[in-house]
Amino acid sequence: MPTPAAPLEPRQPASPPFLAIPHPRYKRSFIQAAHELIAEGNWRQWDPLLLHTRFDEYLATLRAAETEPLAGMVPASRFWLIVDGGRFAGELDLRHRLNDSLRRFGGHIGYTIRPSARRRGYGKLLCRLGIKEARRRGIRDILLTCDADNIASRKIIEANGGVLHDSIDNGRGALTRRYWIQRGS
Ligand SMILES: CC(C)(COP(=O)(O)OP(=O)(O)OC[C@H]1O[C@@H](n2cnc3c(N)ncnc32)[C@H](O)[C@@H]1OP(=O)(O)O)[C@@H](O)C(=O)NCCC(=O)NCCS
Repeated sequence: MPTPAAPLEPRQPASPPFLAIPHPRYKRSFIQAAHELIAEGNWRQWDPLLLHTRFDEYLATLRAAETEPLAGMVPASRFWLIVDGGRFAGELDLRHRLNDSLRRFGGHIGYTIRPSARRRGYGKLLCRLGIKEARRRGIRDILLTCDADNIASRKIIEANGGVLHDSIDNGRGALTRRYWIQRGS
């Protein structure tokens, strides 16, 4: 006799993605994402071995960057995009103000989606949530920049209302596109 199928459980509604302040509860997922980003050469943060043993210290450096930035940096807040109820999907830096260097490249907002979470709209969403957060903090006009050949980032910025200001030489033989998202847009 075939075993009767188990009664169907009512499906839990999928938990929507949200922006989180970096927290130890996402440590495992964050370190997995770090390995993915290392594999594509896109990781400029702590070595995962250090993250394993000194995660709290790492989080403290992120908090310190909000109020006591390192020389040459501006105060900036880090946010993580959490999906599926607890998986780290990407991160965003919100710079509280611009300096000369950010005015040329970087702007107010920088973002990364981990490779295994790409092409599902999370980049657009993360940028949208970052813009909302910038507005909440009173930033009127938001500067976003990307390399001209970064098609995904161009689409993300344009989908979020970015208006192209200009394209400038980025000093690496390519162009940086600079966009403004102005208050009210
Ligand atoms: C850029 C990045 C954030 C995109 O994240 P994502 O989650 O894949 O983006 P989305 O799924 O929201 O896709 C946005 C658009 O770009 C397109 N896209 C995504 N990856 C693409 C790729 N590699 N090539 C071409 N188009 C791409 C998507 O199809 C989508 O297009 P649509 O508007 O026509 O539907 C991600 O690739 C990344 O982290 N890259 C490395 C860091 C980086 O470049 N950050 C931005 C610095 S300015």
